[in-house]
Amino acid sequence: MTPVSAQAATAVVAAVGSALPSCTVSNDELTARLDTTDEWIRSRTGITRRHIAGADQSTADLAIRAAAQALTSSEPEHVDALVVATTTPDRCCPATAPAVATRLGLTGIPAYDLAAGCTGFLYALATGSGLIAADTARTVLVIGADRLASLPHPDDRTTVPLFGDGAGAVLLRRGSADETGALGPMVLGSDGTGADLIRADRPGALHMDGADVFRHAVDRMTNASRQAATAAGWDLADVDRLIPHQANSRITSFVARQLGVPDDRRLSNVAEVGNTGAASIPLLLDHASSDGRLAPGHRTLLTAFGAGLTWGALTLTWPDLSRTRLPQGAPHDR
Ligand code: UT7
Repeated sequence: MTPVSAQAATAVVAAVGSALPSCTVSNDELTARLDTTDEWIRSRTGITRRHIAGADQSTADLAIRAAAQALTSSEPEHVDALVVATTTPDRCCPATAPAVATRLGLTGIPAYDLAAGCTGFLYALATGSGLIAADTARTVLVIGADRLASLPHPDDRTTVPLFGDGAGAVLLRRGSADETGALGPMVLGSDGTGADLIRADRPGALHMDGADVFRHAVDRMTNASRQAATAAGWDLADVDRLIPHQANSRITSFVARQLGVPDDRRLSNVAEVGNTGAASIPLLLDHASSDGRLAPGHRTLLTAFGAGLTWGALTLTWPDLSRTRLPQGAPHDR
């Protein structure tokens, strides 16, 4: 897709939040029930553990916790719209987002789901940004939430180790293109000829052609990143932080190398959370901005790839977010 250039009203990042289920499963725990090893999983993926939602913890529950954290840290007067990017909605019908909005006390606002695999969060940022540019909304809550660990067959060693559950949220507000936090031109794309490479007809029936997906992921994220940087007028040498979708540390390392971004500028949390789908990028934004790896003024490049096939990239300069945190066990924490 041709990059959409910045418009008069630009979406600006105002707050972030995230949520992970408390239950973690280590590689060693997986080896007790799958024909695999900690060494294989670490060396092929970089993953050491993943967070797994309980049967009573839905995608909406995770989305609400992440969103509540973002709202608490920013206390906006209004939220005008809410988008949930997810591949694992709680039900086929209705969408997850209206229930999320209502449980956040936002009944009445437009709320809808968006499915674009692991690229879903970037697609949702694009639609949130579009609502702001069209003056339909002044603030949009964009949430990526997935329970991807529910998709593999429990006995499939080729997919079970890869996935985890979680959610991340970003509050967008109306602002201008010259502010820090303003979303830069977006590059988004899809290719349905690769639809069978990652597919699940129902939970427990995930099929993934790992090696092919690996190659596409590297190529698509590299190309989209180059296009987004060019559209923003950035030289890749000026990128301070690369925030790629956390599918696999070998994939993100290849992408960084092809872009010429030094490895210490490539941020990662895949070791602790695995591949969390649409939650992956906002989770990493929240973790890295909390622990200081992502700081105000950093020129930041986001890129993602996922089932569809879908891909995307965009730039922004990370803003100064004054943060207050929800205490553990806060109202929406089940
Ligand atoms: O979010 C976007 C979607 N997903 C991705 O981006 C994932 C992309 N793909 C990958 O990350 C990698 O392809 C995998 C991690 C899934 C697999 O790594 P690989 O280096 O591409 O391995 P492979 O699929 O080529 O398999 C190599 C060997 C095979 O054995 P043979 O045929 O060589 O005897 C597999 O059966 O590794 C075997 N294998 C395992 N062995 C131990 C596959 N899974 C496991 C396992 N433990 N868990």
